Amino acid sequence: MRNVIQSVVLLLTTLMSTGAVEVIYAQVGETATLKPPVGTNLQECYVSWRLDNKEGHELAGRNPFGKKTTTTSEAWNGRLSLSKDSLIIKDIRPEDFRTFVLEGTGDKCLLAAYVDIKLLKLTVSVNPLSPLLPGDELSLSCDAQTLQGKKSPKIHWLNPSGGKTEKLVTVRATIQDNGHWTCVVTNDSKENKAKVSVTVLGLYPAPLHPQYTSRSGPLTIPCSLLAHISWEQIKAKDIQEVHWHFVPEAGLSPQRLFSLSLEDPVTWKADQDRGLQPVPNPKKGNLSLTRNRGREDDKGDYVCTLAFKNGATLNSTVRVEVLQIISSPGTELISGQQLNLTCGTGHPLPSDLHVKWVPPKQSSLSSLTSDRHPAHLTIPEVGTGDGGKWRCELWQSNAQLTSAEITLKIEPKISVWMLVVICSVTAIVILLLILVFILYRRRKKMTLLRRRLCQCKTYVTTISWTHEITQDTHSQSSALKLLATRCFVEK
Ligand SMILES: *[C@@H]1O[C@H](CO)[C@@H](O)[C@H](O)[C@H]1NC(C)=O
Ligand SMILES: *[C@@H]1O[C@H](CO)[C@@H](O)[C@H](O)[C@H]1NC(C)=O
Repeated sequence: MRNVIQSVVLLLTTLMSTGAVEVIYAQVGETATLKPPVGTNLQECYVSWRLDNKEGHELAGRNPFGKKTTTTSEAWNGRLSLSKDSLIIKDIRPEDFRTFVLEGTGDKCLLAAYVDIKLLKLTVSVNPLSPLLPGDELSLSCDAQTLQGKKSPKIHWLNPSGGKTEKLVTVRATIQDNGHWTCVVTNDSKENKAKVSVTVLGLYPAPLHPQYTSRSGPLTIPCSLLAHISWEQIKAKDIQEVHWHFVPEAGLSPQRLFSLSLEDPVTWKADQDRGLQPVPNPKKGNLSLTRNRGREDDKGDYVCTLAFKNGATLNSTVRVEVLQIISSPGTELISGQQLNLTCGTGHPLPSDLHVKWVPPKQSSLSSLTSDRHPAHLTIPEVGTGDGGKWRCELWQSNAQLTSAEITLKIEPKISVWMLVVICSVTAIVILLLILVFILYRRRKKMTLLRRRLCQCKTYVTTISWTHEITQDTHSQSSALKLLATRCFVEK
């Protein structure tokens, strides 16, 4: 069995060594790996890579015991190495496009003759090399050297998303052109590939869905340069303006929220900030706005724009929706009333979003089991247990987008009997108060009377006494008596 395999390998390798020429394409400046033909077993051989022909200068070699040597020639200057018998040439120079010969010698060696490997030149060019703005013209070309007397290889490009295009590409750049383009050269059904990278400046696409917020949740309005873009590249393209606008409703004129002052240090200047805050350090490419709580008037479109001197712009529009719970007839209810709770944004929700209610613990609805609830809840008769904090969460498959809250106050219902009791108690209390007041008044009056009486007595006594001393006339005496009597009567 082993013998059979060996002879097959021998046959294969001898076929390969009958002068069949292998071709490898490489670009100047890149690295080429020249491999022994597939299926070759060189384990027992002296391996040697030579330049131009069998008698040429030995570039690298290995003996059957694994000892490797590489040329010390100036021309190769450490650019050559041997790895698993493949010759690796780094930093290829224009003069390197030549023939390389692989030779295996030795008694037990199966590779009796040699293999010619031709290194051919692949020329790939991108114009312009600098980053592009969407709309700029981009051209790519790919050329492969043809071996004399052979037909030229087939060439095509693969764009960054893997789509096949022509050998020559000229397009108006779009963000989809950003990334690695691959030139594929097919020769004798063997593919050689060369990659080039194209940079198109752009922003991350705005999220497909609106950004949802609520009065109890944070708000983020995203706008970021694509990860591969630096602020220096933006500046090199002559950036003129960067700003944020807010359009509360279609048809209304936009309000300017922020603009970026482009002189160093690059900072945001607020026009009408609406309590929003830009993410610090805009030079890092994150131009998003945030606030830790949403507001009812946050609803609308937010437009982030980068305008360049040549007229090109990059922009992204983010729609913001505010989730709210609306309670009908209100938030203060009496038990037994009908209650309607609606959770939403004022627009129908996209079909891939759903709401989840979290009622207060004692609520009759706390046993809502499934994870998807209707946006509209009707409670035919609320109980006091339904009072408290209701939360409505907005979910997209397994991610919670935001949640809104409402606090309901529910008073117990007052019955007729309770009303009668309350009224009676109130009436009794009022009556008692009146009684107490009357008694108090009477008491006060009596005291006053007694005091006055006392004063009058003293007065009369004093006058009588004065009369005795002064031996006054009879008429005086009777006048005094009258006075005293009047005093008693008045008081
Ligand atoms: C930009 O900043 C916001 C807020 O901090 C963050 O949520 C977002 O992920 C950032 N974007 C990028 C692309 O880093
Ligand atoms: C609650 O909604 C129903 C229909 O959905 C309506 O008939 C009823 O009048 C509403 N009740 C209140 C208190 O809004």
